[in-house]
Amino acid sequence: MTETSKSNGFSAVVTGSSKGIGQTISEFLISKGYRVIGIARSQPNSLLLKDSSLYRHIRMDLSQTKEVIRLPELLKEEPALKILVNNAGFGNFSPHEEIPIEELEQMLLVNFVSPILITKLLLRDLKKNEGWIFQIHSIAAVKESLRGAAYAGTKAGLRHFGLNLFEEIRKSGVKLVSINPDIVDTEFYDRLDFGKDEDPGSFLSVEEVLNAVEFALDGRENLGFAEITIRPRYHRISKKPIVRKHDKI
Ligand SMILES: NC(=O)c1ccc[n+]([C@@H]2O[C@H](COP(=O)([O-])OP(=O)(O)OC[C@H]3O[C@@H](n4cnc5c(N)ncnc54)[C@H](OP(=O)(O)O)[C@@H]3O)[C@@H](O)[C@H]2O)c1
Repeated sequence: MTETSKSNGFSAVVTGSSKGIGQTISEFLISKGYRVIGIARSQPNSLLLKDSSLYRHIRMDLSQTKEVIRLPELLKEEPALKILVNNAGFGNFSPHEEIPIEELEQMLLVNFVSPILITKLLLRDLKKNEGWIFQIHSIAAVKESLRGAAYAGTKAGLRHFGLNLFEEIRKSGVKLVSINPDIVDTEFYDRLDFGKDEDPGSFLSVEEVLNAVEFALDGRENLGFAEITIRPRYHRISKKPIVRKHDKI
């Protein structure tokens, strides 16, 4: 039996599983024996996540709250839920008055509203199974920046929700871990006019974010890591011309 086929009888839900941090966490949870149910608008491009016995993809736009509330129904036939990872998100860092209103609304819904709705809908099951909630916020949740006020607001808001919910549910045995990564090397920056610097000491890899999840999961039963902030050694970003997806050759 390979490491990936040892089922532990539990499932995990990961939002934003189609790439980046969410895809890496999904692959890791499969290696730990969870059946992963991933949610995103597009399918992940990963061999492991193509195996339907290990991974099920739910194609969903998390800005559509009417879709989001169907989630418990969609999970009915799945194994008992042990882990929820609220990870999906995107950023628009334009001056606030220049963000197209539809995109601003979508960012508030995907980054802030939908994780709170999903947590509410799945919390009873997570309590039953003494499970875990991981929330991927951002360094923007804990420090002020010159750009991205609304993005930072969604992340700080979700962080505050998470820290408060930690207090509410800790005695039920559910562990909620807030993770605040600094710049991570993912496609997050593809649509932005800035991104990681080329100095490898100035950004994180998805594996380094995964380390935080692994560290918390491997902790002793009595330990709850309420919050983990992860930063690279140097604070550097690089400016670049915007390359929109449809402009790519
Ligand atoms: N990269 C960084 O520097 C960084 C730093 C701190 C925090 N974060 C946070 O980490 C999380 C993951 O980001 P990442 O770096 O892995 O970026 P990414 O590679 O761009 O992945 C973002 C994920 O979110 C999903 N998503 C976005 N909009 C969605 C929507 N409307 N409905 C459903 N899913 C949606 C995407 O799926 P589809 O496009 O297929 O729908 C994708 O799976 C985000 O919340 C981000 O804010 C990132």
